[in-house]
Amino acid sequence: MNHSMKRAIISGMGFYVPDHVVKNEDLEKLMDTNDEWIRERTGIQERRWVEPGRDTTSGMGVKAARKAIENAGKDVSDIDFIIFATLSPDYYFPGPGVQVQEALGLDTIGALDVRNQCSGFVYGLSVADQYIKTGMYENILVIGSEYHSGGLDKTTRGRGVSVIFGDGAGAAVVSATDDPNRGILSTHLHSQGVHAKELALIGPATSKWVDQILEENDPDDLSYYPYMNGNFVFKHAVTRFPEVIMEALEKNGNTPQDIDLLVPHQANLRISQFVQRTMKLRDDQVYSNIMRYGNTTAASIPIALSEALEEGKVKEGDLVCMAAFGSGFTWASALIRW
Ligand code: ACO
Repeated sequence: MNHSMKRAIISGMGFYVPDHVVKNEDLEKLMDTNDEWIRERTGIQERRWVEPGRDTTSGMGVKAARKAIENAGKDVSDIDFIIFATLSPDYYFPGPGVQVQEALGLDTIGALDVRNQCSGFVYGLSVADQYIKTGMYENILVIGSEYHSGGLDKTTRGRGVSVIFGDGAGAAVVSATDDPNRGILSTHLHSQGVHAKELALIGPATSKWVDQILEENDPDDLSYYPYMNGNFVFKHAVTRFPEVIMEALEKNGNTPQDIDLLVPHQANLRISQFVQRTMKLRDDQVYSNIMRYGNTTAASIPIALSEALEEGKVKEGDLVCMAAFGSGFTWASALIRW
């Protein structure tokens, strides 16, 4: 290893969720579902949904970013690059990274948009890690933000998907350090496009241009809503999570027992419990907050890590593992010496 090389640490985390709490009982008024079904299958008790007009994907990202910068003890002007992960951008194009640049008043710094859904934050973190190590940037904002609720089918027809997803944002400031004992140890990224359509939103896009949508004007065209083959996704998730976590541990000569805190993407509590059992991890080694926020896709890991930090569950020197799996399929892990 090149000993003069910088290492990347997470110097601050922050999150923002909309005020509006939607409990499982509230969903019973919109569709044929019930609290017991949702809790048993997913562990979710409530989620936050944006009240239309109150929040946007980029706006929530900016709020989370400001907290992360404050918690890092930095100034907004210290940020020299932006990475924004989302599957629910404000606009089809441009992506929300540039909106963060404008909102924070940052002077023409670069902004990169990441489209890796549930794995988006870990992919973004991996990119930031490389830029820091090469010395290209010093302080990078990595943001995950999602505004799912506006695009869900909130009728009985869409209940298999819509009860799972929540809105919110989380952010990290990734900073350079000369300390050889801390930082991101490694990141591991994977994809398998053969399963792209098992968890996807197909239209509107270039697969269905606007003139075709207007011409068809078909209220039963479900391609405008996210589609999820739930059982299929579940089976792949419970295999890929342990696999990619083990990949990170083995790369660094660690075992599951060495993990101080695993922060998995909050996809479904049953998936996290399955991973915990498979890897023989104790309850205190695995962080879960899906009960309160649902699945917030690219935002879920940074929201969870922010809360874990606030609760004092991560301290300097801890071995922290993040792992994600989702649409693409894409999956990823990161191992950090905090
Ligand atoms: N309320 C009540 N009943 C429902 C609901 C609902 N919200 N949704 C579906 N049902 C019904 C179905 O219609 C079905 O009825 P039927 O037997 O009469 O046909 C029954 O419940 C069982 O449906 P399944 O889809 O087979 O239920 P399953 O046990 O597979 O649970 C779930 C569904 C929770 C989506 C599960 O498949 C799962 O967790 N999949 C993993 C995918 C996941 O977590 N995705 C998160 C996003 S992706 C990611 O982040 C990784």
